[in-house]
Amino acid sequence: MKKIYMDYAATTPVDERVLEAMLPYFSGQFGNPSSIHLYGQEAEAALEDAREIIAQQMGVHSSEIVFTGCGTESDNLALRGVALARKSKTRADRILISPVEHHAVSHTAEQLADHFGFRLEYLKVDSYGIVDPDDLRRKIDRDVAIVSVIYGNNEIGSINPVEELGQICRANEIPFHTDAVQAAAHLSMKGLGNWCDLASFGAHKFYGPKGVGALFIRKGTSILPIQTGGGQEFGLRAGTQNVPYIVGMAKAFELAQMELQNMQPFLMQLRDKIIVSVQEFIKGAYLTGHPVDRLSNHASFVFEGVDGNQLLIHLDAAGFACSSGSACKTGDPKPSHVLLAMGISSQLALGSLRVTVGKYTTPDEVENFVNSLPVVIQNFRKLNEGIGKR
Ligand SMILES: Cc1ncc(COP(=O)(O)O)c(C=O)c1O
Repeated sequence: MKKIYMDYAATTPVDERVLEAMLPYFSGQFGNPSSIHLYGQEAEAALEDAREIIAQQMGVHSSEIVFTGCGTESDNLALRGVALARKSKTRADRILISPVEHHAVSHTAEQLADHFGFRLEYLKVDSYGIVDPDDLRRKIDRDVAIVSVIYGNNEIGSINPVEELGQICRANEIPFHTDAVQAAAHLSMKGLGNWCDLASFGAHKFYGPKGVGALFIRKGTSILPIQTGGGQEFGLRAGTQNVPYIVGMAKAFELAQMELQNMQPFLMQLRDKIIVSVQEFIKGAYLTGHPVDRLSNHASFVFEGVDGNQLLIHLDAAGFACSSGSACKTGDPKPSHVLLAMGISSQLALGSLRVTVGKYTTPDEVENFVNSLPVVIQNFRKLNEGIGKR
């Protein structure tokens, strides 16, 4: 049976052009960028080219890009690095985040609160999981160490008004971080330095390799390294850089940003076909996240009388690879903190499904999916009714 991949928010396959760009740096040009000799110089040149490519796409200076091991690490460095630096410098001890952050941000903020004396506060979100800028205006003050709000939500696809939120922070001279891990494949990152101080990226969400990420850190931002050792990455992230993966990330980022204009309408058409069909043909199905302000590839739902994880197993058996919430959640029977924060009941939140398409998805695959899903759900509900009657 042919498997159909509809989980591009979990990860994406590496683009052929990206793989090709990476290959020379595994063997022929394998040098350590910190070495003085020619091998080192070649590796360093590749590293700095990659930094320049990414910076150019963002319209920022290359010295504002720090390479990390993944999106999670970028989030950790941003939150912990800035919070600790600001606390030791200014005594600012409040952290403001949204309640719909990825765990890479929320668990880091919780640890800072539980073990490092910070006060963690949550910004209000509406029923689409979008942060209310007025709530930030009310809560922001000099004692805030950092504000962090997710750009494009991994579970529900909603896009936050990050530019407005960032401007509020800038007017108050408070660092603003955004987790752009999902957004980078779908929105232009040009000019992000005009409104944010830190932004996190992970290559495997935009057809680059897994295990490499980047953090934009605006010049002048107070930040401490969270991984200490050698002086790599401007002293902010010790450890020999993963040159082939960084080269791959830069190529993938450049391609994603350059191909955005063509890709967006293609993905939106596929996404909207899924959204419209599910709402039309499946009873007790509700779209989660914003109907318009959402990532171009992202459709997410909750279904009455359905267990999301069981549904994934049934869909897998029918040939479709989807997700319930974020990939890290699979197998976790607790309702998603994101859906609960939006006011969805625990019962309904347990019936969530995320369907994310990508550049290799075909209209036929989507057609096949929207025809199959109602049948899978109907069979699933019947089976459960049967079990309930026993
Ligand atoms: C919004 C968001 N932030 C952070 C991460 C973590 O990124 P990585 O898998 O590169 O550690 C993910 C991955 O799912 C994500 O979707």
